[in-house]
Formats: sequence, C-alpha cells, structure tokens
Amino acid sequence: MDKILDNAINEAVNLVREVSEYLLCDMDDKKVLTKSGDANFVTEIDLKVQEIMIKGLKEILPESNIIAEETNENDFTLGKYTWILDPVDGTTNLMYGYKYSCIALGLVADGRPYAGIVYNPYLRELFTARKGEGAFVNGKPITVSDNKILENCLITIGTSPYDKGKADETFRITKNVFLKCRDIRRSGSAALDICNVAAGRTDGFYEMELRPWDYAAASVILEEAGGCITEWSGDKLSYIREHQAMATNGHIHFELKEVINSKE
Ligand code: IPD
Ligand code: CA
Ligand code: CA
Repeated sequence: MDKILDNAINEAVNLVREVSEYLLCDMDDKKVLTKSGDANFVTEIDLKVQEIMIKGLKEILPESNIIAEETNENDFTLGKYTWILDPVDGTTNLMYGYKYSCIALGLVADGRPYAGIVYNPYLRELFTARKGEGAFVNGKPITVSDNKILENCLITIGTSPYDKGKADETFRITKNVFLKCRDIRRSGSAALDICNVAAGRTDGFYEMELRPWDYAAASVILEEAGGCITEWSGDKLSYIREHQAMATNGHIHFELKEVINSKE
C-alpha cells in the first residue's frame, strides 16, 4: 500500500478516537437544532465533531476532498482521495442518551472505496478495514456469519426516519422479511448496523434511503469481512447520491433481495 495513504489512515483512526470524546459529554450540552422533516435533527455535537474532523483531515491529507453530512458545500466529484464523513451516525440516539452512535469515516481513492473507520465510543469498539487487508474490531479480525438461509437469520432494518412517506413500503417489506427470518432489530445507526453484519452479530440489514456518509466507511468493513452491500436491485452502490441499500453476509443476499423486491 501507498505509504503516505497508510500513514494518513493511521492518523485518521487516532483523530476519530480523540474526537469521539464529544459524543460522551453530558446530555445538557447537546443542544438540538432541527434540519428538515419530522425527525431530521443535528446537535451541536455533530457540528463540533465535523468541524474538528475536517480541520484534522485537511492537515493529514491536504490534497483530499472531504464530503461531510452537515455541510452544504459538498463536492461529489470523487477525486484522487475523498474522505466521506458522518460526524455522528445515530444522532437521534445521541439526543436521547441511548448510547448507540458512532463516528463513521470512509476513504475513497481513485473513485473506489479504500478504507473504513467506524468508532462506537460507548462500547469502545473500533471497526477498521483497508482494501485487501481484512476487517477488524479493536485490532481483531472479523468475518460475517455463516447463516445460509433467511429462516435462520437476524436482520436489522432502517426506517428512513427523515421521509415518513416511505413508511408504508418500508413496513410492508419488513412484515414480509420478519415472517421469513428469525427476528428483526432497529438500532438507529446504519453504520453500526452494517458493521454488525460484518462482525457476524447479525446476518443482514436494509434501508430504503441511505446517503453515502451512512454506508461509505462500513461498506469497506463489510466487504473486507466477506459480506456484500448493494442497491436493492443488486447494482453497486455509488458514493455520490442516496440509495436503497442492503448489506448481508453474502450467503443470503439473493434470498433477502427477492423478499425485499417481492410485491406481495
Ligand atoms: C441515520 C441513522 C439511522 C438511519 C437513517 C440515517 P443520522 O443517520 O443511520 O439509523 O435510519 O436513515 O440517516 O441522521 O443519525 O446520521
Ligand atoms: Ca447517518
Ligand atoms: Ca449524522
């Protein structure tokens, strides 16, 4: 691997860990600001984390582009190096003190996903992956589960909470999936949901609308752990627009895709 990139990723890991302290501060400090829609919130923590991360990443890799959720100035042309940052994935959880949120940082190099860093400071779990080098939690290798049929699977879902117009379709599909799998979970952090598939703690995940910062980092971690992430159609995900996304251990990808796309 390119030595400069290798060092940059190591420094980014340290930065993510340091900045994650902000997620642990008292609820009283988490002033909530509304963005748009029913449940689309941003707290001062999201903004602070993003500000420090952007400053740090510019120092680490000065020539890189940074796509970050809480800015209106994103440049979605993926240049040589592009960081894709969700300063807090699981903002609603953060607001409620639910203690299940993370910082998610992906690196796309020459248009291809290259590295993923997802840190959950509540459990002190650091998920990392670099293309071709495997996936890890706190330095220990992780792999997806071996479950081969949906009937034996635990599936997490995302509810696309910022667009309640998608609720009918989301819950119609979810009833179908629920009837065919072991059980359903809903955590409130898509990045951690995908990492949980990577770690073999669940077998699959899907959501009707996700944005690149929700899955960029975790997609590298999942693929390096042996899993599969695609559009609901089975097409590859891009890193420049929203998608209907599904992530699995690979074995059940086709079966889950058929159930999600079934019109019954
Ligand atoms: C949200 C979380 C949630 C998912 C939403 C995302 P945010 O991200 O990942 O689980 O259902 O679609 O937007 O707003 O907490 O960064
Ligand atoms: Ca998010
Ligand atoms: Ca966010």
